[in-house]
Amino acid sequence: MARRKKIYEGKAKILYEGPEPGTLVQYFKDDATAYNAEKKATVEGKGVLNNRLSEFFMKGLNAIGVPTHFIRRLNMREQLIRQVEIIPLEVIVRNYAAGSMAERLGMDEGTQLPRPIVEFSYKDDKLGDPLVPEEYIIAFGWATQQDMDDIVALALRVNDFLSGVMYGVGIRLIDFKIEIGRIWEGDYMRLIVADEISPDSCRLWDIETGQRLDKDVFRRDLGSLADAYTEVARRLGVLPSNITHAPKPTLIN
Ligand code: TMP
Repeated sequence: MARRKKIYEGKAKILYEGPEPGTLVQYFKDDATAYNAEKKATVEGKGVLNNRLSEFFMKGLNAIGVPTHFIRRLNMREQLIRQVEIIPLEVIVRNYAAGSMAERLGMDEGTQLPRPIVEFSYKDDKLGDPLVPEEYIIAFGWATQQDMDDIVALALRVNDFLSGVMYGVGIRLIDFKIEIGRIWEGDYMRLIVADEISPDSCRLWDIETGQRLDKDVFRRDLGSLADAYTEVARRLGVLPSNITHAPKPTLIN
């Protein structure tokens, strides 16, 4: 049997050549990393959960007219996506102070921000993904002013959608990261949401208890990451029936 061609391997995903030109197969690994891969582990079932969760969010975005790279899920760990040219930025939207913002500004985690704040990091592991002002992005030609206006508009639509969906299942969307890609349709270029949307790239807190349901569980050793992601998937009704990591029964008072 012919081996398919690996295009790229990242920390949590692998991209393979797709069945048609302009497509790729995105494979979700069980690997978890934090602090620029200084901390590493394998979390059984994470790839399966993130494949489902990213499918759920991307499909929802497509349905409300926010374009994404998602075409369809292929199996437990793989989805068919559109090939894009990734803009080398992490687009971060924050609704509440947490993580690096809370640390940088000495704010209490969970402080509500006056409005959603969009910020950008330059995607470069060797440099530790430094925060960059829009001025740098435009001056260095990573994106144009028009691109940046479109990216901010996309990011805020993703924020409204994700915040609403999560609120509906009792989860507060603290912040998240997306990546944006370019696709060409004839002479026209469009910007679309790419990469993944999952608890690996969001901060999700239970509204009632403040319990962390995202990768901070792994970063800060707060318990089982698989349990946290399973809980998010269960609440959203996208729990795969045959994942290796079975959810624990919950006590009903
Ligand atoms: P931060 O507080 O560490 O800057 O992260 C903000 C949000 O962006 C948080 O939800 C985690 C996410 N994020 C990633 O998914 N990947 C990254 O490389 C970074 C820096 C942040």
